[in-house]
Amino acid sequence: MHELLVDIPSREYTIYIKPGLIDGIGEEIQKIYNNKKVVVITDRNVDRLYGKKIEEELKKCGYILKKVVVEPGEESKSFKTLEMVCDEILGFGINREDLIITFGGGVVGDLGGFAASILLRGVPFIQIPTTLLAQIDSSIGGKVAIDTSRGKNLIGSFNQPEAVFIDPELLKTLDKRFLYDGCAEVIKYGAIKDKEFFYNLLGYDREEFLYNIEKTIYTCCSIKKDIVEKDEKDLGERMLLNFGHTIGHGIERYFDYKKYTHGEAVAIGMYTITKNSEALGITQRGTSDIIKDILNEYHLQYNFPPIDDNGMDKIMEAVLLDKKNLGKSMNIVLLNSIGDGFIKNIDISEIMPYIKP
Ligand SMILES: NC(=O)c1ccc[n+]([C@@H]2O[C@H](COP(=O)([O-])OP(=O)(O)OC[C@H]3O[C@@H](n4cnc5c(N)ncnc54)[C@H](O)[C@@H]3O)[C@@H](O)[C@H]2O)c1
Ligand SMILES: [Zn+2]
Repeated sequence: MHELLVDIPSREYTIYIKPGLIDGIGEEIQKIYNNKKVVVITDRNVDRLYGKKIEEELKKCGYILKKVVVEPGEESKSFKTLEMVCDEILGFGINREDLIITFGGGVVGDLGGFAASILLRGVPFIQIPTTLLAQIDSSIGGKVAIDTSRGKNLIGSFNQPEAVFIDPELLKTLDKRFLYDGCAEVIKYGAIKDKEFFYNLLGYDREEFLYNIEKTIYTCCSIKKDIVEKDEKDLGERMLLNFGHTIGHGIERYFDYKKYTHGEAVAIGMYTITKNSEALGITQRGTSDIIKDILNEYHLQYNFPPIDDNGMDKIMEAVLLDKKNLGKSMNIVLLNSIGDGFIKNIDISEIMPYIKP
């Protein structure tokens, strides 16, 4: 088992990574939680595949269980679903010493983690992420949120979990599209922080990638852990994790979050901003071609999709909504070269050459 200790001022917790960890998960949880009541928040797909399994594992250890199942998909990160989830949990009679487990992808983790942060002003929670994206990104670092009609993740908080349990075996049932979607964020970590890791990824074929998945998850989690430890509240270095995201968010929003998954949009964002910053003489020549190669290999599109005449205005709107904006200036993430990302503060009026198709 790989273990990583996340040590931040608000909480210290461990990320456990092991294939097959879901077998015996009750015993693992017993090591950190002594009460009886447990709420498992999950979505219908994950419930169909693993609901019975987790239920058995927890009941075996004497836990009294309430399962809350939401609809799969981003639509569940809403006020309406949050209300339903909170109501069911309160109906179960939970108190502040009880435990909430989020068992699912980033949607369940973000929604459930946010519910845990506001229920009774805070109930402890554990993340058991089940998608690649959730295992390497969203379950770590404590950002939890729901969406509103004005944008994604606009209502939320920082709420660190008690622990994160990652079982890479769960990824075997994941739809290919979601696997590659997660790969975009995996590639991102290499691009901003770890050249060797990036080139390993570039060299893997599909089988090698799957064979090395545990190590890959560990590397991504270590990079995120290091960054979050230095900057929990996203005021400095954590913004590095936003490489490709300024354009990515714009593309997601332009297509109403329907055509591209988050990772797919971020892939386009990473390539586009690097191609542009290379043309501006900032990034080492040839870097965007290497990014193109790796995206191709992981079945991710790199080209900016066709947009209508007012398209860039709509994308600009999303850019301006971004939480990284600081009044008249904003931070963007660029690469010096592969493995060496940095944050650049620019005037908002200067953004277009960086984000243009
Ligand atoms: N909090 C953060 O720091 C952070 C970071 C990145 C992304 N996010 C959020 O994460 C969300 C996206 O997460 P996601 O990509 O995991 O999407 P998701 O939670 O919607 O899961 C994707 C799909 O996979 C299914 N699924 C989950 N696990 C499965 C498994 N093991 N086998 C088969 N199917 C499975 C789900 O039911 C769903 O249909 C977005 O809302 C995004 O904003 C949050
Ligand atoms: Zn992301």
